[in-house]
Amino acid sequence: MSQAAGDWTGVDEGWGRKAVDFSTLSEPSNCREYVAVQHQLGVDAGDRLLDVACGAGLAIELARLRGAVCAGIDASSRLIAVARDRNPESDLRVGDMHDLPWADATFDVATSFRGIWGTTPDAAKEVYRVLTPGGRLGLSVWGHLKVSPGAWALAPFRLAATPKVDNQAAMVSLGRPGAGEQLLECAGFVDVRRLSVPFAWEFPDPETYARALASTGPAYEAIQNVGEIAFFDSAVEQARERVRSGLPLRAEINVVGYLARKPED
Ligand SMILES: C[S@@+](CC[C@H](N)C(=O)[O-])C[C@H]1O[C@@H](n2cnc3c(N)ncnc32)[C@H](O)[C@@H]1O
Repeated sequence: MSQAAGDWTGVDEGWGRKAVDFSTLSEPSNCREYVAVQHQLGVDAGDRLLDVACGAGLAIELARLRGAVCAGIDASSRLIAVARDRNPESDLRVGDMHDLPWADATFDVATSFRGIWGTTPDAAKEVYRVLTPGGRLGLSVWGHLKVSPGAWALAPFRLAATPKVDNQAAMVSLGRPGAGEQLLECAGFVDVRRLSVPFAWEFPDPETYARALASTGPAYEAIQNVGEIAFFDSAVEQARERVRSGLPLRAEINVVGYLARKPED
């Protein structure tokens, strides 16, 4: 879970404790989102690209396939270890997105896949700083979750204590109409455009779904509240109702993308 500025060092506790499960069972389903945003941004050979809150670095791997020279930052040292394994030539750092360790105007493109939230507005200003004039930005955030066909897949996060659930709601507020536009325009970006981003988690069975979900930061908040076994059992139970013969468990979730540009000097 993204946290307020100054409170990032504990992030690895939630996001990193099951880094192998996250990178192999959860993150691969996000590839639709990565490909769609990178395509919209026209990521191409020679682009210097920064992925903010890059997690285990699959988006960076895909950007490299398009020829980009990549850097990434994440607060979780154990996710960065996976990202480095996948992208040995890339400049991958453990750190805080509110204090990016790169000079002004270092990157042509910046992305962040559900890494910058309503609760982390200052990160957008930092991204603005490290982009070149004319640099392109692509963000994704959760959209309208309640109307998403796959909302059931996120429901176990609500097993967290009430203040944590309230914070999760504040985080996803960036998907509301006007919210992301306002945040990015306040940070100085222009040509802000909203788009719908394809996003679908797929799993072979309820147990794999529960294991994948348990590897995420918000799941850890729920697990701290109800325990590992209760979390797992609850996730499995509700996923069983979604099993379809001969097809994967599939959860399509509403994700909003924002494209924007730093003005030319
Ligand atoms: C929803 S995950 C998204 C990860 C990755 N972008 C993906 O698509 O899988 C949020 C990520 O933000 C990272 N994170 C949270 N707070 C951060 C901070 N202050 N600075 C950098 N990374 C942070 C977490 O470690 C986690 O990897």
